[in-house]
Amino acid sequence: MAQATVHFPRGFLWGTATASHQVEGNNTNNNWYRWEQDGHLKQQAGLACDWWGGRWKEDMDRAAETHQNAHRFSVEWSRIQPERDRWDEDALDHYRMMARGMVERGIMPLITLHHFTDPLWVYDKCGWEMDDIVQVFEKYVRKVVEALKEYTNYWVTINEPNIYALSGYMTGEFPGCDKGFHVALKVLANLLRGHAAAYRAIHEIQPEARVGYSLHYRPMVAARPWFPLDVLMRNIHYQGMNMAFPSAISTGVMRSPLGNTRIPEVKGLQDFLGVNYYSVDTVKFDITNARELFGRRSYPAGSDLSTTKFIANIPNGFFDSLKWATTTYPNLPLLVTENGVEDFQDVMRPRYIAQHIYQLWRAINFNWPIKGYFHWTLVDNFEWDRGWTQRFGLWGLDRETQARIRRPSADLYSDICEENGLSSQMVNKYCPEVLQKIFPD
Ligand code: FCB
Repeated sequence: MAQATVHFPRGFLWGTATASHQVEGNNTNNNWYRWEQDGHLKQQAGLACDWWGGRWKEDMDRAAETHQNAHRFSVEWSRIQPERDRWDEDALDHYRMMARGMVERGIMPLITLHHFTDPLWVYDKCGWEMDDIVQVFEKYVRKVVEALKEYTNYWVTINEPNIYALSGYMTGEFPGCDKGFHVALKVLANLLRGHAAAYRAIHEIQPEARVGYSLHYRPMVAARPWFPLDVLMRNIHYQGMNMAFPSAISTGVMRSPLGNTRIPEVKGLQDFLGVNYYSVDTVKFDITNARELFGRRSYPAGSDLSTTKFIANIPNGFFDSLKWATTTYPNLPLLVTENGVEDFQDVMRPRYIAQHIYQLWRAINFNWPIKGYFHWTLVDNFEWDRGWTQRFGLWGLDRETQARIRRPSADLYSDICEENGLSSQMVNKYCPEVLQKIFPD
């Protein structure tokens, strides 16, 4: 067996990512709770991982003991500002305690300000369609940053604006309001304005802050590259899914398959780009799928698929995504703010991790400025419209008892974080089936 280790730069950030509604439990004042109450979900978030009840502490112990040095989490707007004219200082204190708890454990917090949830008073006014959404978001951001700035310089304004807008305001898997691609575009434009307002406000309060957003980037390929309609659909979906935020931040004009929107105030406003990568889509023309503009996305036959077929393990797509990011924004620091796979049995996850970390290392060898990696996620959590059917945790969760069950992947990831690298021994131990792919003889 070849003996080799690939190393990452000194100071590389290794962590996991979480989001408030997915882990806190008892969030009853936001759009997702209403969506659940209205019967749109088969399973309830419930107590989730009981972070609000204090179990974040034991989970941060787990993160620290397994050599993670950073953690991405989100604060819950509906707790901090339960009503338009009311702030909850206790909720802010709770987040201060959490952030401090991370710092005390040697874990750098990266804080997300908006991760798919809106307070009910925002949702009741049609969420990000609301007229003064940008001003109210900015006010909330100012409040949070004032409260938490002593614990971090790193802020993610908005998580996956593309998924939030398209799933909530077009396809309807997420809570939203009106539906249609033009509605999703209006929401995306407001999210861009919200990002711009947040960026400026954060820098005003904390000049040394580093502010970015997390993009769910999906590489896409035409199912039949020789068939012009597949190529057209691939291009429309690619642009609709991936390009709204990047195009507007590059040029001040949000480009979309339905036309352009000028948002000059957002041009250039990012200090890093957060990349969330999971898989690559194959796109096909499908006359029956008007809801998705006559395209259908799938995975090729024979793909290495996750338990519920939600994710295909395509590590090259990760490299391609990082290449796209650094080509689009030369010299802009990149953070991988999410990457992971749902796998109850932990059969695929070890190889998914090893293969993706290897691609990350390849990317870093081109001197692309990648500063950290946040695995999704630490402990199984509530996966939005898919509820508890998908288990993304390095630790499993027994929902009855709140017990955490350590998966082999937690050990692999721990070894990677401790070594600041990936070795052939690790691959041989946790996922020998890909040893020859990563470290050929
Ligand atoms: C991303 C979300 C995150 C999680 C993963 C699996 O789209 O940002 O909250 O649900 O997918």
